[in-house]
Amino acid sequence: MLKYKAAIFDLDGVLVDTAKYHYLAWKRLANMLGITFTEEDNERLKGVNRMKCLDIILEIGEMSLSIETKHELAEKKNSWYREYIENMDSSGLLEGAELYIQQMKSRGVLTAIGSASKNARTILSKTGIIEAFDAIVDGHMVQNAKPDPEVFEKCASLLNVSPIECVVFEDSQAGIEAAKAAGMKTVGLGSKEALKEADFVFANMSEIDVPLF
Ligand code: BG6
Ligand code: MG
Repeated sequence: MLKYKAAIFDLDGVLVDTAKYHYLAWKRLANMLGITFTEEDNERLKGVNRMKCLDIILEIGEMSLSIETKHELAEKKNSWYREYIENMDSSGLLEGAELYIQQMKSRGVLTAIGSASKNARTILSKTGIIEAFDAIVDGHMVQNAKPDPEVFEKCASLLNVSPIECVVFEDSQAGIEAAKAAGMKTVGLGSKEALKEADFVFANMSEIDVPLF
């Protein structure tokens, strides 16, 4: 009998190496606006939707802009980001990710993507793993951004399981908070300092050694 029935994966920074491209594109935008934006600041952007990321950068720069200008800037960032991921393929998958998903599937575990990104489906197609998921919830499908639990609650409901039967794999503080708010078990991927609130933390998916499923 399985302890948990479903594995819900965040995409950026968990399965694919896109966090660096988000950072590069935001850094480019911050430079254009004359705002100093560091890698440490960038931790606050992980898992957070596009407009909220822009708001955080503007807050760092103590700048306030009209909603029209903000939409233009967010669009500009996205076009740079899409250029960076243009040639992405399966080599963009993070260490251990594909193998872990296949192992879970062969054990009968349900799988889902719970991502804030509106580019999630493009990336899943480019890297060739889109067929591996029983449900995909992306940035087009939620009203409330992480740390709100909506994205993960929607995954559980699409998979027809209860939240306590789900394990969430996340690289961001906002995502761990969202998963906990949904009442789910959490596995952090990245550094222990940044992901203190997670139930378990591993450097990458090839290091996961707890028998969750
Ligand atoms: C998350 C990333 O997965 O998606 C964030 O961690 C990003 O950094 C967010 O801002 C939204 O992505 P997109 O592709 O819709 O701009
Ligand atoms: Mg992420």
